[in-house]
Amino acid sequence: MTTPPLDDARLEPHTRQRLDEQVVYPWADVSVRSTPRTFLARGDGVYVWDTDGNRYLDGPGGMWCVNVGHGRAEIADAMAAQATTLGYSSPWSFGSDATLELTRRLVAESPGDLDHVFYTTCGSTAVDSALRFVFFYNNCRGKPDKKQIIARVNGYHGSTFLTGTVSGKTSDKAHMEMVDGLVHHVSEPKPADRRAGQTVEQFCDELVEEFESAIVDIGPDRVAAFIAEPVLGSGGVVVPPADYHRRMLEVCRRHDVLYISDEVVTAFGRLGHLFASEHEFGIVPDLITTAKGLTSGYVPMGAVFISARLFDELRDLRADPTYFTSGFTYSAHPVAVAAASANLDIIEREELIAHVRDVGPYFQQRLGELSDLEPVWDVRGVGLMGAVEVRLPGTAADDARNAAFLATVDRLCQQRGLILRPVYSSCVLSPPLVITRAEIDQLADTLRSALVDAATA
Ligand SMILES: Cc1ncc(COP(=O)(O)O)c(C=O)c1O
Repeated sequence: MTTPPLDDARLEPHTRQRLDEQVVYPWADVSVRSTPRTFLARGDGVYVWDTDGNRYLDGPGGMWCVNVGHGRAEIADAMAAQATTLGYSSPWSFGSDATLELTRRLVAESPGDLDHVFYTTCGSTAVDSALRFVFFYNNCRGKPDKKQIIARVNGYHGSTFLTGTVSGKTSDKAHMEMVDGLVHHVSEPKPADRRAGQTVEQFCDELVEEFESAIVDIGPDRVAAFIAEPVLGSGGVVVPPADYHRRMLEVCRRHDVLYISDEVVTAFGRLGHLFASEHEFGIVPDLITTAKGLTSGYVPMGAVFISARLFDELRDLRADPTYFTSGFTYSAHPVAVAAASANLDIIEREELIAHVRDVGPYFQQRLGELSDLEPVWDVRGVGLMGAVEVRLPGTAADDARNAAFLATVDRLCQQRGLILRPVYSSCVLSPPLVITRAEIDQLADTLRSALVDAATA
């Protein structure tokens, strides 16, 4: 495969500016014509290059997704081979051995009996489908009132009507319509925000009590599911207290509430496991949603893993045909299946899971060393997922001065060859899993120099 020379891919600056005003980007600020942005041209491993040839270390791994790194000809070749053999087949009418083989490999690693897979087009459609499946399941069980969803403040679950509603960042909802009366949000499990004098265990007790009280108040016969990211990602890499997920699952079990673990970010190696729910947090949920690392971002794809127990129950309940009327033209798209399979080949052959377990603690150690800097308020993370939160003296987390400070840090990092992802008062990091110790040093040293210089700017 050949990449076009950089010059051929280059637009003249004012043509680019004019055209850029016509693209509505995610989270676009519509009060301005366009927001200045860097244009990327190519990538290789943990690095990307812009259209002027400047190289950057990709701190957020694209958008938490480029797990096996950039420039993998093996994935591109697998996609090209599939596209030229059969570019599309309808998932309504036909099957494919490649999809069955991918499913076999995935369910061999999925927790417990989560061995039914519903393929989707991205993370939002995975979460949306999981929620619709839960509603469908309760309708089939003759429990049409059991529809309430409990989610968490600062959770992020996607950008459809339903997933936007379950997401828990109030600032993202300011000018948007939400589904009324469907979702209840409980507190985020952020140990750094616990009350003075409170132990992490007491904080965890309080979160579990809050959750159980919410179920009891709403009425267990009305609560369908709890949805939680194992580690809140876009919410600022919030790692919960050790026992949190296990205890939340116990509460779910007591009240016939399904547990949806949103592993769109954490699956496929990011925390040193193919799935984090069981091996990192000790739970076997009822549904797991995934996307991103499933194809390492080379092509959009998502997948929902559903407990076989739920299907057994549905089969036992109903003699008449009962259709789960949900699906996408591009469910298990052949090219995406080829990309996911090639991606898994790389993860296995290069032992990337073991690599994350090896370099993850070093990544956390190097980020942790930033805590000695004045504006740094908290550093947290697990595996190759981390966040550095800043709070300027006398400010609270949501103070605009913190976001402005991080915008300066972001600009300085880009000038020095590092891409960051500031989210409010935190910058979140999730580099490609192939990152080496030397590249982790480069990331941490660049971030340190930018934090120091931004503080004196
Ligand atoms: C935990 C989580 N769930 C769902 C989504 C939505 O995924 P997508 O952007 O692929 O629709 C995201 C995206 O960042 C996510 O972080």
